[in-house]
Amino acid sequence: MGIASLRKQALDEAESIEDVKQLESFRVKYLGRKGELTSVLRSLKDLSLNERRSLGEEANKLRRDLEEVIDFKHKELSAGGKEEIIDITRPGKKVQVGHLHPLTRIEDEIKEIFTSLNFSIVEGPELESEYYNFDALNIPPAHPARDMWDTFWLKQPKNAKERRLMRTHTSPMQIRYMETHQPPFQIIVPGRVFRYEATDASHEINFYQLEGLMVDENISLANFKFIIEAFFKRLFKEKIEFRFRPSYFPFVEPAVEVDIKFTTKGRGEWLEVMGAGMVHPRVFEAAHLNPRDLQGFAFGVGIERLAMIKYKIPDIRMFYTGDLKFINQF
Ligand code: PHE
Repeated sequence: MGIASLRKQALDEAESIEDVKQLESFRVKYLGRKGELTSVLRSLKDLSLNERRSLGEEANKLRRDLEEVIDFKHKELSAGGKEEIIDITRPGKKVQVGHLHPLTRIEDEIKEIFTSLNFSIVEGPELESEYYNFDALNIPPAHPARDMWDTFWLKQPKNAKERRLMRTHTSPMQIRYMETHQPPFQIIVPGRVFRYEATDASHEINFYQLEGLMVDENISLANFKFIIEAFFKRLFKEKIEFRFRPSYFPFVEPAVEVDIKFTTKGRGEWLEVMGAGMVHPRVFEAAHLNPRDLQGFAFGVGIERLAMIKYKIPDIRMFYTGDLKFINQF
């Protein structure tokens, strides 16, 4: 038999080998001491130089190929052959992907709404100075209004020029922004704030606020009402009931608080969601702007409170438990 047909026969045969035992008899049949290829190789010495050259080359190549095939098959069969089998009838594996925390989701949504109302998004430091958090906002050291914000103070380094604290609200960014920008502008400032106080269903020691500030020559509280009504409508996807209550914050005049009607278990209840008002002249002055030329409104809204209303969550502390039974509902 010629080498070519020997090759074809052997390779065809190799295809149908199903276990290690068959593989061994295959090896013996071709490469064993009395194997078919072995005898060809042995007979080479009886041939003429020319014949030996061409036949020898072909025969040796076949030997190498068969050794390789045997080697490969051996690996495949001793691994049980299972690795190579893909069972396309098996049900697929469900891919588990994570998702955004409800607070991140609502913050993204809020940013989108305000961006579409032409507000820019800016951010500021969580570690603040006493000046920006209080003094510049018309709350000097002895002012009783400081009691409105129970404060986490930082240990002061010796010779420190100013006291530092964890910001108790996002309002310091009103000053920081106005110091470096000329009106007109309209901005929102989302961020984490800190309060040194007891927690309950509607209070946490750290939570998120969104500050809003719109300044131009002729801005009024009516503009504020228009903006937040549009905002509430888009966020809650329904007309919701809200009310203004006269209030007091040293950095706005007049000051209001905004409550939203929150219904759980059939019972309606007013939930305070933001403080707001017209920017106080002292605040413009602190930022080196002339209060005679300008008017503006500012507001600070609690992001958790909005999420509680939107998703009907009864307790603010749930956001921070990390409890998957809670998180996975969103
Ligand atoms: N900074 C106030 C607070 O945290 C809220 C507020 C912002 C009130 C802007 C009026 C104007 O309570």
